[in-house]
Amino acid sequence: MPRTNYLIPALIVLSGLLPLTANSIGSISTMVEGEIDMDFMQDVEDVSINLTDNIARHDTDPILSDAKELINAFAQIEAFYIAKGDTEDAVQLSRKSKELSQKIIQQIDSKDFDSAAASATELARACKSCHNFYRKD
Ligand code: HEC
Repeated sequence: MPRTNYLIPALIVLSGLLPLTANSIGSISTMVEGEIDMDFMQDVEDVSINLTDNIARHDTDPILSDAKELINAFAQIEAFYIAKGDTEDAVQLSRKSKELSQKIIQQIDSKDFDSAAASATELARACKSCHNFYRKD
């Protein structure tokens, strides 16, 4: 039975490689299909909730760091949709969200917490608009 003796180890090696292959194909197709990473989006949600709370508390330093994180996140989302192509609404909404986050920093710099709260509300609306277009649930 010399052939079987070769076959079994070969099958074990192959079955060990299969999950690896499946994983790499999985992440490549994620990029090609242009999925937004869920953990990333969950972080965006957490930060934007903090931002709203911190504006209500007039807590300047955390507001500024939340807004900076959101600017960075939306710059990445914007770049992602530009690269993806044919998603003009998503590009505009990411850009708008980024600009609203920048506006909040300016409003906090001039201690205008009411306007900052209005910008945060507008930002939440931009989230919803993009989800209406692009979320698949
Ligand atoms: C430019 C488009 C866009 C903008 C702007 C946007 N999102 Fe998303 N968001 C998406 C897409 C696309 C998904 C996932 C789509 C899918 O596959 O269901 C998503 C998913 C989510 C999820 C689900 C994550 C999960 O684990 O299920 C949350 C929460 C979320 N977004 C929060 C926000 C919040 C809060 C904002 C605004 C501060 C925001 N998003 C702005 C496009 C956007």
